[in-house]
Amino acid sequence: MSPANFLILFLLVLPLYVIILTRKTRNKLPPGSFGLPFIGQSLSFLHALRTNTAEHWLRERVRKYGAVSKLNLLGTPTLLLHGQAANKFVYTCDQKILAGQQPTSIRKICGERNILELTGDDHRCVRGALLSFLKPEVLKQYVGKIDEEVRKHMKMHWHGKEQVQAMPLMKTLTFSIMSSLLFGIEEGDQRRDALVKLFQQIIDGIFTIPVNLPFTRFNRSLQASKKVRAMLMNLIREKGAALEQHSASPNQDLISCLLSIRNESVVLSDEEIIDNAIIVMIAGHDTSAILITFFIRLLANDPSVYATIVQEQEEIAKSKASGTGELLTWEDLAKMKQTWRVAMEILRTTPPIFCSFRKVLEDFEYEGYIIPKGWQVMWAACMTHMDDQLFPDALKFDPTRFEKQAAVPPFSFVAFGGGPRTCPGNEFARIETLVIIHYLVTQFTWKLCCSDNSFSRDPLPVFRHGLEIQVKPKNCATG
Ligand code: HEM
Repeated sequence: MSPANFLILFLLVLPLYVIILTRKTRNKLPPGSFGLPFIGQSLSFLHALRTNTAEHWLRERVRKYGAVSKLNLLGTPTLLLHGQAANKFVYTCDQKILAGQQPTSIRKICGERNILELTGDDHRCVRGALLSFLKPEVLKQYVGKIDEEVRKHMKMHWHGKEQVQAMPLMKTLTFSIMSSLLFGIEEGDQRRDALVKLFQQIIDGIFTIPVNLPFTRFNRSLQASKKVRAMLMNLIREKGAALEQHSASPNQDLISCLLSIRNESVVLSDEEIIDNAIIVMIAGHDTSAILITFFIRLLANDPSVYATIVQEQEEIAKSKASGTGELLTWEDLAKMKQTWRVAMEILRTTPPIFCSFRKVLEDFEYEGYIIPKGWQVMWAACMTHMDDQLFPDALKFDPTRFEKQAAVPPFSFVAFGGGPRTCPGNEFARIETLVIIHYLVTQFTWKLCCSDNSFSRDPLPVFRHGLEIQVKPKNCATG
């Protein structure tokens, strides 16, 4: 064959080959459609979140396409996974294949080195540093401090009031606790009031389109982040000096802890400390406040759970020397088993985090489908919470499911995630929830004000009217 003929043949065959190849690859993509360009299924998904019908939305997709399907969210081709096997896959998958996927706005506002952006050794290093403060052995020292914060809050915001909005108050309280434990900024310090406002502005802009123009929420969030960064830099200098002069303890607060481990194996730069202090505050205070708000709603609606919790907490209150203001201890928290089981069942039935995202760094095969690099993976991990095979009679609220942790099948209860990115704040959340519920049920009774106490997701749950309740103080001397 002459070179000219060969070239003609090659040019004729090439397009055919490309068509066959792409069809083959396309055939291997998961079922589902990408919908309209850019918009895809974004609007219907956001609508489902806002109307708290996201579970139904997902179940319908799973019914139509199965546990593995493709869709298009905000212009990004997305693999939607569902089920226990999917949870296991995502939580145990090599981080070289799947990495954290956060909206651009989070990276710009919280900084490039925040833990959610990191993978591999960088992620392990920052996570290890955070856990050196968030591990139970360290946190147990703070039960008394958290107790004091809760009592101050009750005095200021609950006593003397007939009606309160539970959700914003719980956010104020968890913010106060975190501000004390993470930054060492105590009640009465003007910097705390400034931080509350600035963090609110940061959070308002975190899930927005990152358009940096003077009137956008994203812009306000960026400005607030700059101010918080300047404040945290001053704190780092202050705390660094105190540590050098031995006038502060390394475990005084998260920032002191991160500064003090610099002398050991882990070295976090000032920027890394700031990025991660911001992300821990954002990841931690809303989620815990939501759990406690659901708890408050449940106690108003379920007399039998209420009776169990009150009994457990009253017994602990009675064991304290009356009128001395004795603080709760780590040992007291260990006795609050029923209360924590109820919290776990709340997390199962109404998890604060509904779905998570990862980005695909390399092509990979899953269940016979090819998932191309550049896609994102979305999985509503907690859909397994409502699977009757994993949690018999899943719709029933039954805290006794958690009596034996070992009986809960692996990768099925995932309110705190799983694998190398499991929530490092779960112990922190447990401590604050138990202490707050203790003071609420031993000092007050309450009932819901509105008949509509539903919530929407934005993307975290938001209660209509902030969950308004009528409160009455119990006649007790605690506090
Ligand atoms: C009820 C309360 C909480 C819930 C339900 C919760 C849930 C979660 C979930 C599901 C993840 C994993 C997300 C993923 O895999 O993409 C996570 C990660 C994280 N959480 Fe929590 N969280 C709570 C409280 C807290 C608290 C109190 C803190 C801090 C003190 C915290 C700090 C973090 C951080 C820093 C990460 C990122 C971990 C990493 O990427 O390695 N969380 N949380």
